[in-house]
Amino acid sequence: MKTLKIAIQKSGRLNEKSVELLKNCGLDFDNYKSSLISGVSNFPLEILFLRDDDIPEYVQDGIADLGIVGENVIQETEVEVVYLQRLGFGKCSLKIAIPNSLDLNDVTELSGKSIATTYPVILRKYLKAKEINAEIRTISGSVEISPGLGLSDAICDLVSTGGTLKSNGLKPFCNVMSSEAILIGKAGIENHEHVQELLQRVQSVLRAKETKYVVLNIHKDNLNKAIELLPGVKSPSVVPLADEGWVAVHTVIPESDFWDRINLLRQAGAQGITVMPIEKIIF
Ligand code: PRP
Ligand code: ZN
Repeated sequence: MKTLKIAIQKSGRLNEKSVELLKNCGLDFDNYKSSLISGVSNFPLEILFLRDDDIPEYVQDGIADLGIVGENVIQETEVEVVYLQRLGFGKCSLKIAIPNSLDLNDVTELSGKSIATTYPVILRKYLKAKEINAEIRTISGSVEISPGLGLSDAICDLVSTGGTLKSNGLKPFCNVMSSEAILIGKAGIENHEHVQELLQRVQSVLRAKETKYVVLNIHKDNLNKAIELLPGVKSPSVVPLADEGWVAVHTVIPESDFWDRINLLRQAGAQGITVMPIEKIIF
């Protein structure tokens, strides 16, 4: 069967996490910064290292079968690709930001203003939906310096930590879209046997990230109380201890409310709570 190709970002905010995800899926490949393409020794896959802005079109046109890229880039290029999986990393938002000195209270006040951006497609749709009549100045980079240079009144750019805005005397004004890394595929590729295998591996890695493996000791009298506090994959395993009054409980706890559950378990009499990272969860 034909070797699949997956395109990932060569350098930038998604590169490291994309490589980490593929490695965690058990794929063995070299990650040389200089190479454009890398073979996977233990899976029928080749990895293409590309500029993120090119990835959606390469996937749409079938030059790559799969890609990992920010949703902002996908929306901006208006391609037809299939969303296979949201990946939960590379979270950021596309925001309109204005100079600290500018006082605006409502988005409608952007009417008549100029906004510099590298995301004209998304911005145009946003302004249209809000019925704002602003001028879009499309530039190719360093958007954050344009108000300071007098090139525009505002900007529309990606914000992650907010550091870039701050150091350029800008403040976030409104959210245009939220974005994260997405695993995309060319239309129809989702039925490919190896894509399904890869997708399953990706999902098992993502599930594992959301949960922790927990072992705790508890007196038998308190066991039911503790079990009520535990979700587990099916139900927790209960293992007898040498001390007959006590048992060890093995289970999986979601990261989201981890500390709340741990505190409730301690109140219920749990002792020696040991928490371990999980590598994969396969259903
Ligand atoms: C974005 C954006 C800002 C910066 C914001 O660029 O254009 O420069 O990140 O991040 P911060 O809020 O953490 O300071 P990116 O690194 O994605 O490069 P690119 O737009 O050239 O792809
Ligand atoms: Zn880019």
